[in-house]
Amino acid sequence: MCGITGYIGRENCTEHLLKGLTRLEYRGYDSAGISVYGNGSVRTFKQKGRIDDLKALLPSPLYGNLGIGHTRWATHGEPNQKNAHPHSSSSGRYTLVHNGVIENYEELQSKWLQNAPLTSSTDTEVIVQMIETLSLTGLSTKEAFIFTLSELKGSYAIAMIDRDAPDELWVAKNKSPLLIGLGDTFMSVVSDAIASIHATNQYIELKDEEIVRLTSSSASIETLQGEEIKRKPFKASIDDSDIEKGPYMHYMLKEIDEQPAVIRSLISHYSDGKGEIDISSSAKECLLKADRIHIVACGTSYHAGLVGKEYLEKIAGIPTEVHIASEFVYNTPLLGSHPVFLYLSQSGETADSRAVLVEMKKLGYPSITITNAKGSTLSRESDHTLLLHAGPEIAVASTKAYTAQIAVLYLVAKSLMKTTRDSSIKDLSRVAQSMEAIIDHKENYQALAKHYLLESRNAFFIGRAMDYHVCLEGALKLKEISYIQSEGFAGGELKHGTIALIEEGTPVIALTTQTGTDPNIRNNAKEVLSRGAHVLFISTENTKKEGDQNVIPSCPELLSPLLSVIPLQLLAYYAALEKGCDVDKPRNLAKSVTVE
Ligand code: G6P
Repeated sequence: MCGITGYIGRENCTEHLLKGLTRLEYRGYDSAGISVYGNGSVRTFKQKGRIDDLKALLPSPLYGNLGIGHTRWATHGEPNQKNAHPHSSSSGRYTLVHNGVIENYEELQSKWLQNAPLTSSTDTEVIVQMIETLSLTGLSTKEAFIFTLSELKGSYAIAMIDRDAPDELWVAKNKSPLLIGLGDTFMSVVSDAIASIHATNQYIELKDEEIVRLTSSSASIETLQGEEIKRKPFKASIDDSDIEKGPYMHYMLKEIDEQPAVIRSLISHYSDGKGEIDISSSAKECLLKADRIHIVACGTSYHAGLVGKEYLEKIAGIPTEVHIASEFVYNTPLLGSHPVFLYLSQSGETADSRAVLVEMKKLGYPSITITNAKGSTLSRESDHTLLLHAGPEIAVASTKAYTAQIAVLYLVAKSLMKTTRDSSIKDLSRVAQSMEAIIDHKENYQALAKHYLLESRNAFFIGRAMDYHVCLEGALKLKEISYIQSEGFAGGELKHGTIALIEEGTPVIALTTQTGTDPNIRNNAKEVLSRGAHVLFISTENTKKEGDQNVIPSCPELLSPLLSVIPLQLLAYYAALEKGCDVDKPRNLAKSVTVE
């Protein structure tokens, strides 16, 4: 949520900042800005809209060796030019970009800034004005920076230029992610390594309440309390080509297509080469001690968690609950003597999930994070991490991370059985082939999307048992990128109220992959068909009936979500494409939600 880039070095910073911002656009894209230091002054350009709108505004050449940039997902203040970052202090001495939310900004404003007129409605401007106000009392930049940071309540990732000291760039972090990139001729600061992976693969993680003074050749890290920190860099294992769209029009389609390869990558990471599952023994031991597993997640990851619960209970026999992270604090369950917390998060940065982790850690409960982002906050702060090995997921609507999470949860559950001598690895490998078979005919879904979805303002997805969980995900995909109001329902539940919304032509997608529930879902479909709904059946070779419009390959029923979600992802994709929506960057959304 909001992306930050910063550069100090020997080359021109503008290109570096803009390339980084383009790659960080998945974190927010309602406005963008950069500030560049050159010839004794800081020049700031900002604009409502996308990075391309910002680029159109920039003079050419815009030259400087020091600069900061920001792409925004608005929290405080509407998305407009005035509220876009960077923000500067009244005299123009300090300019900064910020990602996060300052909870006490109004309090700070009335305490410190009665004489400093604010020009925006953001919490961020309070930070920069406060630093200037304090510096005017005689504090050094570092002292004013640290004092201000220690007064802030909330989350922040900050990069700040001091016009009077252009050989340094100030950086700070609390809760919001931030990395230092180490180049041969520069230092960079980025919200995500993909923002400067074209220039370096060496990064230093920052921890909460740390500040950094960057020069073009050094990074001095300290805690807010003044303790010096020495930390080794790590090598980011992302390939520049992983983040290119290649021949695809959209990342979402590329990522849907990558799902068979992701399953194969998981097989190679989590098997011993002889067909047996190989999951970290420490994570397994942790789970085996659990009297109950609590899965905590948001959005698509929550939907993957619902499938994971089935695996952990049906395969491993461990009672499991799934929690929406942001609700956990209000509905904290009664915990037994050995609860284990399993955090599911593609990004590993989701603030709501992290808030639960922080609280549960205080109570001493063990934690495992399943994430796509090595070194992410949730991963670092959990006792154990299992990686999704899905490669960067750039489209805001999550696809391959969902199937990867389900596959990992399946392998984990299987690995907890007394005997792991079973066919799981082979089954997953067949699933990867069947995924390919579906994807090979993806154009079929364009026609189905046109026929069933385009004319409608709403759509319903019905399924039972496992299919119900997948329906929730299918409905989320469709609504988030096509803006067609869509809901997923347990087949039996529609008649208890929502059936009132069925009119002539209302699309209902009936998912039926389980032989046990097929007769029931067919009955539910009849209930809506007789009221005028247009029902699109998605069935399997095992459940198909005459007239089904889409039949996908069969697989062991527990694994069916890995296949049945693909038609739903493709329907959503083509519906959005046909409607002319911005598939990869749907309105109002951001991929990495780092505010609670
Ligand atoms: C955002 C994204 C969703 C994602 C959710 C949880 O809302 O738009 O696609 O499912 O965050 O993200 P996480 O990174 O924790 O899986």
